Amino acid sequence: MLRQSLVRCASRSSPLGRALVIPTSARGIRTLPSFSLDGKTCVVTGAARGLGKEILTGFALSGARCACVDLTKAAAEASIKHIAEHVAATQPSEPVPELKAYACDVTQEAEVKDTFSQIILDFGNVDVVATAAGIVDNVEAENYEYPRWRKMLDVNLDGTWLFAREAGKHMLEKQTRGSIILIGSMSASICVRPQKQAAYNASKGAVAILAKSLATEWGPSGIRVNCLSPGYMETDLIRELLAKEGKELVHSWVRDIPLGRMAHPSEMQGVAVWMASDASSYLNGSDIIIDGGYTAY
Ligand SMILES: NC(=O)c1ccc[n+]([C@@H]2O[C@H](COP(=O)([O-])OP(=O)(O)OC[C@H]3O[C@@H](n4cnc5c(N)ncnc54)[C@H](O)[C@@H]3O)[C@@H](O)[C@H]2O)c1
Repeated sequence: MLRQSLVRCASRSSPLGRALVIPTSARGIRTLPSFSLDGKTCVVTGAARGLGKEILTGFALSGARCACVDLTKAAAEASIKHIAEHVAATQPSEPVPELKAYACDVTQEAEVKDTFSQIILDFGNVDVVATAAGIVDNVEAENYEYPRWRKMLDVNLDGTWLFAREAGKHMLEKQTRGSIILIGSMSASICVRPQKQAAYNASKGAVAILAKSLATEWGPSGIRVNCLSPGYMETDLIRELLAKEGKELVHSWVRDIPLGRMAHPSEMQGVAVWMASDASSYLNGSDIIIDGGYTAY
């Protein structure tokens, strides 16, 4: 049974948006039990930083054992250390779920297969996979060099598919009624402006239809596949982009966001936990856009 507890709130100020009030002690508050990830094993790619790390944090806070996958073991280790400290501080009366780090370049088929096999050896089963490894690149289409185009599709599309394929194969074999969450982008539905990013948009459009395709193939076995499409989130990826392209870009973005601010990356947690958990048991083949209303215009 879920316990009532005192809600402590922390105010996290965001350099690009307004201050957010975020409950720091969420566990023990009465909510639907189906939101819990207790007993589940969740894998997140690109989880050393940014949205992948936030999603992994949300999963760990919801009780899941977690595998953190990123390009280097050192970065993945640092991420799970930070997540473990955060979970321990936020939920002092709960044990910190098991967290493990894996080095894997998601564009390398052999590495993806080996990493997935190792995760199964370590945890025994995988219930949830979220694919957040991704890159962004803004270059006008007429000058886009082919190797750059290939790299974009390699990471954002092939890397997503390679991990999803391993997840689907495993879930079918073990008859796991799992949840696979492909991280897309609102750029799959609209062309954001003013930056020119045809390759990125194309890669994310492909991810969105990939999610629908896998949902139809694996849905009959109880495996749910959905796309989670963020809008503008203040991650390192966006900070690096702004360092290159100029901070004034933010003002043009924010003007078109009905909520009037960019998202704090932690605002991905609730949606991702819902999509991973049994609380979204009838959600399949959907593209959930979390963009403060940007695509509503
Ligand atoms: N931040 C946003 O505003 C935003 C908006 C829409 C979509 N997204 C998408 O969300 C995902 C995460 O974005 P983010 O902002 O957290 O980016 P980020 O750059 O902060 O994090 C991406 C992570 O992916 C890892 N990665 C990159 N290439 C990899 C590879 N080949 N193999 C394994 N790991 C790799 C990086 O090391 C990094 O840790 C991306 O797919 C991005 O397109 C982000």
